[in-house]
Amino acid sequence: MTGDVFIVTIDGPSGSGKGTVSRALADHLSWHLLDSGALYRLAALAAERRRIPHADATALASLAATMNASLSFRNGVEWATLDGDDVSDALRSERCGELASRIAAVPGVRHALLDRQRAFARPPGLVADGRDMGTVVFPAAQVKVFLTASSEERALRRHKQLKEKGIDVSLRSLSEDIGQRDERDAGRRLSPLRAANDAQVIDSTRLSPEEVTARILPLLEAAGIGPNRA
Ligand code: DC
Repeated sequence: MTGDVFIVTIDGPSGSGKGTVSRALADHLSWHLLDSGALYRLAALAAERRRIPHADATALASLAATMNASLSFRNGVEWATLDGDDVSDALRSERCGELASRIAAVPGVRHALLDRQRAFARPPGLVADGRDMGTVVFPAAQVKVFLTASSEERALRRHKQLKEKGIDVSLRSLSEDIGQRDERDAGRRLSPLRAANDAQVIDSTRLSPEEVTARILPLLEAAGIGPNRA
């Protein structure tokens, strides 16, 4: 427990299903939810709006610390603002994900976002979704899950999601993008994507989000966490 706040971390690569599962858990427990990737996406969008070059690590870090951004969930829908503008849709584009992955490799940016991420830990509890939630941001979390899935399955899921939004991208180019993003996220020097030593690894390749959630609930129960305790 961090202070009097229960924390469950769900880490994993893009398309592993961690967003859907984190949302379902936060809903089930009536807890707060942190989509840490959205903070990196907001920082990337802010840098693009201010035309800060990728090489200017100092300016990027200072922007990540001071950007006027908000992130919340309303009736299960994520809502993000930057300088008062609703950027919820802009945040979900493939391009923004790519920029976020690049900016996330800048150590000063990661450091600047630490406090913002930890501020989401409020009673009764937090479900934190990301790449380094269990290893760096909330190392004392009671339950840590690392979700994986084959890269083919992750590309297929992303393809389906985009298609549902009316966005037509070839499966092949999506697979390539996912592969590059995995390499960058897992290969960076600081806080690379990896499972914490005390994380439970769940392969979701052949599991629905409901089946993954059903495997996590007993882990919460074993840690003394449940809707009644929350
Ligand atoms: O989960 P996502 O696709 O919204 O994340 C976008 C990028 O942000 C991801 O490619 C890497 C980075 N990220 C990170 O480095 N650490 C996190 N905890 C969350 C996201």
